Amino acid sequence: MFNQLEAAPPDAILGLNEAFGRDARPEKINLTTGVYKNAHGQTPILSCVKEAERRLFESEASKGYLGIDGLPEFSGRVRELIFGADHEITVSGRATSIQAPGGTGALRVAAEFLGKAFPGVTIWCSQPTWPNHPAIFQAAGVEVAEYGYFDETTNGLNFASMLDGLAAIPAGDVVCLHACCHNPTGVDPTAQQWEQVAEIIESRDLLPLVDFAYQGFGDGLEEDATGLRTLARPGRRLLVASSFSKNFGLYRERVGALTVVTGDADTAGIVLSRLKQTIRANYSNPPAHGAGVVTTILDDDLLRKEWQTELNGMRERINDMRQRLATGLAAAAPDHDFTNVGTQRGMFSFSGLSPAQVDRLREEHAVYLVRNGRMNVAGVTEENIGRLCESIATIL
Ligand code: LMR
Repeated sequence: MFNQLEAAPPDAILGLNEAFGRDARPEKINLTTGVYKNAHGQTPILSCVKEAERRLFESEASKGYLGIDGLPEFSGRVRELIFGADHEITVSGRATSIQAPGGTGALRVAAEFLGKAFPGVTIWCSQPTWPNHPAIFQAAGVEVAEYGYFDETTNGLNFASMLDGLAAIPAGDVVCLHACCHNPTGVDPTAQQWEQVAEIIESRDLLPLVDFAYQGFGDGLEEDATGLRTLARPGRRLLVASSFSKNFGLYRERVGALTVVTGDADTAGIVLSRLKQTIRANYSNPPAHGAGVVTTILDDDLLRKEWQTELNGMRERINDMRQRLATGLAAAAPDHDFTNVGTQRGMFSFSGLSPAQVDRLREEHAVYLVRNGRMNVAGVTEENIGRLCESIATIL
C-alpha cells in the first residue's frame, strides 16, 4: 500500500530548517524558523525558566495526567497576561481558556471547535499569512479564504484593501488576525487602525480568531496587546490562540492556550465542555512541564520581573539587529530601498526578495530565508551581518 504514495512536500518553514541542518558549509546562516537567538547565535534557556524548572523538579510529586483542559491555575494567568488583570473579560468569567500544545495546538483546537459548532463556517486569513494557518484550518475541515493585507509596492500595510476585504466577509464568518508582529510581514495596524478594524468586525458581526504568538516582541507586553484589547469591546465574542514558545523561550515544551470569550459565564462553561470534547479526541490532555514553568514564573513576583527583563533584552537585541541590518543593507545595496527592514516589528522582516532570489541566496551563499522572502532578524549576529548584507547585495 505505502509504495503507491507520493512524498509530501517539505514544510515551507521547518523543512528549510532541516535542509540547513544537512548543509555542510561552515559559513551557513539560518534565518528561517521564528526562534530567538542571542548574540552568539544560540537559542538560550531563560534564567527565570531554569529557576522555575529547579523549583518544579523539587516539588513535583506525580506524573499523573493533567485535566483535559490543562493546569487549572494556568488558564487564569493566561487571561491576565493577554487582557490585563483588571479587564472586564478577566474578571467577569465570560471567557474560558484551555492549555494547548503550543499556539499551533490552540489554533487546531479552535478550528475543530468552530467547524463542528458552526458547520460551513469559513476562516479568513490575511494575504500573506503564516503558511501553517491555512494548513491547520483545512486539516480541521474548515474552509479558508483571504483578505488583503500587504502592499508590495510600499512594503507596508494596505489598509484600504484590508478594510474592503473585511467589509466583504459574510456575517458569522471567522477572521484570523495577528495581534502583533505580523508573521511574515512584520507590519501591524496602528492603534487607530485597530479601532477601525474593530468597528467593521462589530458592524459585520464577524468572529475574530486572534493569533497572539509574539507578545512582548513588538513594543512590550502591554503595548503588544493593544489590538487584541481594542477588539475585546464590551459584549464582543472572540477567540485568542496564544503561545509561550517565543516569549518564554519554551519552544520544544509546546505550551500555549486557547481562550474563548463568550457573552456570559454559563455560555463559557458550555464552550469549555465542547473544547474538552475536541481535545479528548485529539491528544487527550496536554503535557505538563511548559505550563508548569509559565505558571511558576507568573505566580512569583520576582521571577515574573526577571522574565520581563529577559524578554525586554530579547526584544532590544532584535531591534538593534534590525536597525543594523537596515543600515548595512543600505550601504551594501544603495540602489535598493530597505527602509522597511528598519520599520517592521517583531522577529521578522519581509525583505521583498523573490523566491528565485531566496533560492540563489541559499544555493550560492548558504544564507537560508523562507521562500516568501521572510527573514528571522533574531538570527542576525554581529558575526554574520557583514556577509549577510554582502550576499543579499550580490543577488539583487
Ligand atoms: C515561524 O513562523 O517560523 C514559527 O512560528 C515557527 C513555526 O512553527 O513555523
